[in-house]
Amino acid sequence: MAASPSTAAGGLYCDWNATTPPHPSVLAAMLETAETAWGNPSSVHAAGRRARQIVDALREELAGLLGAEPRDVVLTSGGTEANNLALSSAPGLLTSRLEHPSVVRVAEALERRGVPVQWLPVAPDGRLDPSWLGSAAGLPAGSWLSVQAVNHETGVIQPIAALIERARGLGLKVHVDAVQAFGKGEPAAFSTADRLSVAAHKLRGPKGIGALVFRGAPPSPVLLGGAQERGLRPGTVDPVLASGFRAALALCPSAPERWRAVRPVRDALERALRPFAQVNGEGERMDHVSNLSFRGVRGDELVAALDLRGVQVSSGSACSAGTPEPSPVISAMHGKARALEAVRVSLGEDATPEFGERLLDAFLRALGVRPR
Ligand SMILES: Cc1ncc(COP(=O)(O)O)c(C=O)c1O
Repeated sequence: MAASPSTAAGGLYCDWNATTPPHPSVLAAMLETAETAWGNPSSVHAAGRRARQIVDALREELAGLLGAEPRDVVLTSGGTEANNLALSSAPGLLTSRLEHPSVVRVAEALERRGVPVQWLPVAPDGRLDPSWLGSAAGLPAGSWLSVQAVNHETGVIQPIAALIERARGLGLKVHVDAVQAFGKGEPAAFSTADRLSVAAHKLRGPKGIGALVFRGAPPSPVLLGGAQERGLRPGTVDPVLASGFRAALALCPSAPERWRAVRPVRDALERALRPFAQVNGEGERMDHVSNLSFRGVRGDELVAALDLRGVQVSSGSACSAGTPEPSPVISAMHGKARALEAVRVSLGEDATPEFGERLLDAFLRALGVRPR
C-alpha cells in the first residue's frame, strides 16, 4: 500500500479527531514563512510588516469563510483557549456533559463562582433536542448556550441551526464549539453563532493556533498584557503558525466531498465489527468516525493491543487519554460500564477500502477472533 497521510508515520493512524497530519502545503507555507517572514507582527518595521501581512491575510480568510468581519477574529492558541475566551465571563450558561473538557471545566468554574449554570439532559443518541432549551428560562439576561457542532468522540452532528434558532428565541446568546466541524463540512449551519471556536490542527493545519470568531460584543480577555488581537488575546502572534493555518484553509472548499468519501470504509468496518461491539452515537454523524464499545473488553486495553499492531485509535478524548477515567461523553450517553469498553476510530480523508481491510484485520487479531 502506497504511503498516505494515515500511513506515512508508520502503522495505521486512525485518530484524526485527536489531530490531523499537517498537509504538505501547510508544511511548505510554514517553512517559507519561518525563513522569510518570522518578524513580530506588532513591529512597525519591514520585518514586522511582512509578518503582519500573513497574520492579516489569515484573519481575512477566516472571516470570509465564517461570514464575519476580520476585526472580529481573535487568534488563539487553539480550541481550548477559544472556548475559555468565549465563556469565561458568561453571566449564566446552558450546556451539557457532551461538550469538550475545555467547555465543561469552564462551566464548572463558573458554577464555583456562583454563576448560574444549567446542564441539559443527555440522551443515548448523543443529540440535543432544541425543545430542552426551555429550562433556560431562569437564567439571567445575556446568558449563553454553548454547544458543539460535532462531538469529538462520537462524531454526532448536533441540529445546530435549530438549536441556535431556539436559543435566540429564548434570549440566549450562542457559542458553538466548531473545532471538530470546521474544515470537514459546510460551515453555513454554525457560522451564524455569536461566538465560534475553531482550531487549525483538526483540518491539517499546525497545532498551537485557532480562533474565536465573534459577532456583536467582544469577549472579555482571559489573559492580560499587550494590545495584540485588540487586547482580547495579548501575546505575540506567530506568523509561521498563521501561514500554516492559512494554507489549511485553502483545503476547505473541497473538504465536504473528501470527507464524505470515507463513509463506505467506515461502514464496512462497522458492519464487520458489529457482532462484537455496540456503536455509540449511531444517528446523524460525521462519515469518518466510529465509536464502538466491545462487549467484555476494556477500551484502554484494546487501544494498547492495537497500538502493538501499529494501529492508532483512542479510548476517550485525547485530552483525557492516560487517565483511568472512561470517556465522559460515552458515560453521559450510556453509563460508565459501556464507556469503559469504548474505542474511537476516526479515519483520515485518505482511507481506502484496502486501508479498512488492514484495520479490520488488526481489530480481529487484537480481539482474538483471528489467530494472533
Ligand atoms: C470539540 C473540541 N473542542 C475543543 C478542543 C480543544 O482544541 P485544542 O486541542 O486546539 O485546544 C477539541 C480537541 O480535541 C475538540 O475536539
